Amino acid sequence: MFYTRSLLLAFGAAAGAASSKRGLVFVPNSQWPEDNNVWVQSGSDLTWYYNYGSTPSSAFTGHSQEDFEFVPMLWGAISGTSFLDEVNGLIQGGVNISHVLGFNEPDGESSTGGSNITPARAAQVWVDNIEPLAAKGIKLGLPACTGGWNGIPWLQQFLANCSSLVSTDAETKNCTYDFVNIHWYGNFEGLASHMGSYSAAFPNVTQWITEYNLDNQDLSTTQRFFNTSAEYFDRLDYVGRYSYFGSFRSKVSNVGENAVMLNNAGKLTDIGSWYLGVSATGVLPTSVAGKGYSPMAMASVVALISVMALFGC
Ligand SMILES: *[C@@H]1O[C@H](CO)[C@@H](O)[C@H](O)[C@H]1NC(C)=O
Ligand SMILES: *[C@@H]1O[C@H](CO)[C@@H](O)[C@H](O)[C@H]1NC(C)=O
Ligand SMILES: *[C@@H]1O[C@H](CO)[C@@H](O)[C@H](O)[C@H]1NC(C)=O
Ligand SMILES: *[C@@H]1O[C@H](CO)[C@@H](O)[C@H](O)[C@H]1NC(C)=O
Ligand SMILES: *[C@@H]1O[C@H](CO)[C@@H](O)[C@H](O)[C@H]1NC(C)=O
Repeated sequence: MFYTRSLLLAFGAAAGAASSKRGLVFVPNSQWPEDNNVWVQSGSDLTWYYNYGSTPSSAFTGHSQEDFEFVPMLWGAISGTSFLDEVNGLIQGGVNISHVLGFNEPDGESSTGGSNITPARAAQVWVDNIEPLAAKGIKLGLPACTGGWNGIPWLQQFLANCSSLVSTDAETKNCTYDFVNIHWYGNFEGLASHMGSYSAAFPNVTQWITEYNLDNQDLSTTQRFFNTSAEYFDRLDYVGRYSYFGSFRSKVSNVGENAVMLNNAGKLTDIGSWYLGVSATGVLPTSVAGKGYSPMAMASVVALISVMALFGC
């Protein structure tokens, strides 16, 4: 009995190791707005977040920016300088912007969430909107490519195109960047090897892992991956920050029902609580039947009803 109890205390209810690198990939939640409060609860380890956009999430208004820093992202191609103008507006309004993120999966198709931009077009948008922020001391993160083989070649072409935009006949220059952003879905060995490819292509450049998971696996495999990767990121000096995907409920997950930080009632799962550095909850991702609907499933229902109407059902 004694041993069982000690083991439970030592492992079962253990809090995750503390880390100052952890942040939130925030997918604003209008369906269950109460879920937003989970990430800013007292004792949370999370120090920063991004929301794929250029302005802070209203869900976190009033929460100390010092404890939970917002990092703007220029998601995809835009014309003009609206991103630059918005970031400058935030700075003028007293928001501490220390880092910005380049495009989200520019090498990926829009059907899978990619922003699908050519390197040459992305370079122009970067020169107009992101490059000028370097002069203000803001650290610039290269575009976050997919985990596919094309990511690093995409970045190399982007940098070459960017260089030709900022160079003159008299002087060759490079665009500025301070860190790379890495996305990975797959096992830990693949993740470590992918980070190795970035280290080889971008020697001595800090890495942020801004989306990662071992998707669609059973719970214990998913938890083992979570622990191994978090321990790895915390140990490596060249990993600056990381953010685990996903901060949503099991029922609406597009990375499998076990990969999530919330169950279907919005309660932290074990992975969610380890990530926040608080004690494990023992809550299973699927412990409550999903009351929610995914927009995808809903669209199919609507389509089905229309088809039935068509046939006079
Ligand atoms: C993961 O780490 C937590 C503590 O951080 C520990 O309680 C748990 O047993 C670990 N799980 C696995 C599968 O390694
Ligand atoms: C702004 O944020 C950065 C990174 O978190 C921090 O190092 C810096 O001290 C902050 N500056 C102010 C004025 O709060
Ligand atoms: C972008 O870079 C690629 C590869 O270096 C090159 O072939 C292409 O001409 C460049 N495009 C522009 C618009 O500079
Ligand atoms: C620009 O980047 C290229 C490729 O990384 C490098 O070979 C070159 O030395 C850099 N040029 C300058 C002026 O920093
Ligand atoms: C870059 O190299 C220096 C000197 O070897 C080292 O101290 C530093 O940690 C390295 N930084 C990264 C991001 O790899």
